[in-house]
Amino acid sequence: MKILSTGSAVPERIVVNQELSEFLDTSDQWIRERTGIEQRRIHEGNLEILAARAAQNALEAGGVSADQLDLILCSNVHSRYLTPSMSSVVQGLIGASCPCLDINGACAGFVYALEIAAAHVHSGRYRRVLVLCAEEPTRMVDWHDRSTCVLFGDAAAAAVVIPDGEMPLFKMGTVSNGQAIYAYHGPGNCPYEKSDRRETPLVMKGQEVYKFAVQSSQEDIQYLCRQAGIGLEQVDFFLLHQANARIVEAVRSHLRQPPEKFPSNIRLYGNTSSAGLPLLLDEVNRQGKLQPGAVLVLSAFGAGLTTGACLMKW
Ligand code: UT7
Repeated sequence: MKILSTGSAVPERIVVNQELSEFLDTSDQWIRERTGIEQRRIHEGNLEILAARAAQNALEAGGVSADQLDLILCSNVHSRYLTPSMSSVVQGLIGASCPCLDINGACAGFVYALEIAAAHVHSGRYRRVLVLCAEEPTRMVDWHDRSTCVLFGDAAAAAVVIPDGEMPLFKMGTVSNGQAIYAYHGPGNCPYEKSDRRETPLVMKGQEVYKFAVQSSQEDIQYLCRQAGIGLEQVDFFLLHQANARIVEAVRSHLRQPPEKFPSNIRLYGNTSSAGLPLLLDEVNRQGKLQPGAVLVLSAFGAGLTTGACLMKW
């Protein structure tokens, strides 16, 4: 499996920390020091438009036309649609005609989708798979809750996967925990509903998730390097889910690797859920930092609690 190309799209609207402190009991200093976030992008329209732009950018970068796609896999937690899937809406917007499937792996969704794409191209079933992540966590949080709303931003990013090169190594995991990060749908108006369920915006036990993230990420990275028979020093870049700059720094310092191997853009976008990893990958790719044969380790973690890590050669 090889990532042929990447692409991304972020909303135009920039919201800096200072703006949030105008209606929330928070400060630029707290947000910067505790998370590394300085601003985030918040889309003002429909997510599928952003998603289609990211998809088109990835296709253009790879010289692939939409009608050549065999499958669109979209990682998405929340959009205005309960159904149809985001991937099928985007398919129509970009003019593709292939099968479409959404997955919800929360913030680890890119790695989950990549693993499915890898299995499909490896099996010979599909030759060109678009892995797309489109997320709008800003529509899930309670904007009165300073402990969550300051953390998130919206984005979409994509990668075109083709059968070529070596099979990456994956380490996927889920530890069921419905209390650490969750949001509930509303009950609808079913006359047979007997539970007391009601719509609940995103709730996150920050410190519990923080500890889980640091622990699982460093273990996954070490596991994959052992499986590949390489030392950490042979990895060119570690791309971690951009949830908190302190999480990235804790993993980096535990692994005793230099900061330049841990690119980060959380400062500009905040936590964009599963879109964060492909957004970072696209940034590093467009900066020309990924030489053919470069060894990358991706690691993500999120609601579920899910984890996904991948070691690949570029
Ligand atoms: O993407 C999915 C995975 N998610 C993650 O990986 C997130 C993991 N968790 C984290 O990144 C961090 O736990 C947070 C950024 C969410 C919170 O940072 P923290 O250092 O764990 O802070 P805390 O929750 O312990 O809160 C410390 C203090 C509290 O005040 P008291 O009780 O000490 O008086 C909070 O009420 O900071 C307060 N606080 C705030 N103050 C100003 C919480 N949010 C804010 C805020 N502005 N926005």
